Amino acid sequence: MTPNQPGQIHRLPIAGVKNLIAVGSGKGGVGKTTIAVNLAVALASLGYKTGLMDADVYGPNVPLMMGINRTPMAFGERIQPLEQYGVRLMSMGFLNPGDKPLVWRGPMLHSVIQQFLRGVDWGDLDYLIIDLPPGTGDVQLSLIQTAPITGAIVVTTPSDVSLEDARKAVSMFRQVRVPVLGIVENMSYLDCPHCHQRVDVFSYGGGRRTADEMQVPFLAELPLDPQVRIGGDTGSPIALRKGEGEPFLELARSTVERTADAARQEGPEIEIGE
Ligand SMILES: Nc1ncnc2c1ncn2[C@@H]1O[C@H](COP(=O)(O)OP(=O)(O)OP(=O)(O)O)[C@@H](O)[C@H]1O
Ligand SMILES: [Mg+2]
Repeated sequence: MTPNQPGQIHRLPIAGVKNLIAVGSGKGGVGKTTIAVNLAVALASLGYKTGLMDADVYGPNVPLMMGINRTPMAFGERIQPLEQYGVRLMSMGFLNPGDKPLVWRGPMLHSVIQQFLRGVDWGDLDYLIIDLPPGTGDVQLSLIQTAPITGAIVVTTPSDVSLEDARKAVSMFRQVRVPVLGIVENMSYLDCPHCHQRVDVFSYGGGRRTADEMQVPFLAELPLDPQVRIGGDTGSPIALRKGEGEPFLELARSTVERTADAARQEGPEIEIGE
């Protein structure tokens, strides 16, 4: 699939949804879902009406990390999102519970993503966060070319392999004219619980450097913290906790600011339904 030319992009708005934010990365396993989940919970706790759409159709991790897995109800043609911690949710995991992998090809994938975007009764939302699968392939392109995405967050670790792929992700969003709200460096450092020294497990500072090089904002550096992993595995995101959740609240506040900037710069009328 090649990106549409500017002016040919048809990104119809989703009724009631003010801002769509995609969380992506080049590399897998860098913490996209963790950040999407905690960002959504943090935005909801700041009082914003928030939804989270799991676009990782083959490896949906949102149900586990949000601690909920039920089959959603449908009224007529509209699927009702589930709700947990004040966040409205949709994930393939709710429709295909169990361990069987899905074996779908391009066109079906495309229609599932469209169904999640437009066939779910999201209601009025300030923010709909989209957790993308890893990479810069067809699923990502199909989604970001058809959804009216306000901005994208690119997640990376400080390691060179992750940064190399993060640059590709930034370029992909740029190619399809989705503003990059910023780079988040995850697993930035470890506060050693024994010697209380900072350990740069995956190197240091690469996220900020890459953001500078690519002229995109640097949004946050988040520590490698066993409590973040435990929060994910137990369906109780760390953003729910006072104190420990603060870095994610901070990320949510910066995301709100950057989104407002992006919306001002782009102007909704440029991309929608042209
Ligand atoms: N800051 C962190 N501290 C500790 N563990 C973390 C942190 N961020 C993510 N993890 C853990 O790392 C693992 C991978 O994270 P996650 O599933 O969010 O990555 P991902 O980028 O969404 O992966 P995929 O590409 O497979 O979708 C999970 O077990 C998660 O709990
Ligand atoms: Mg994921």
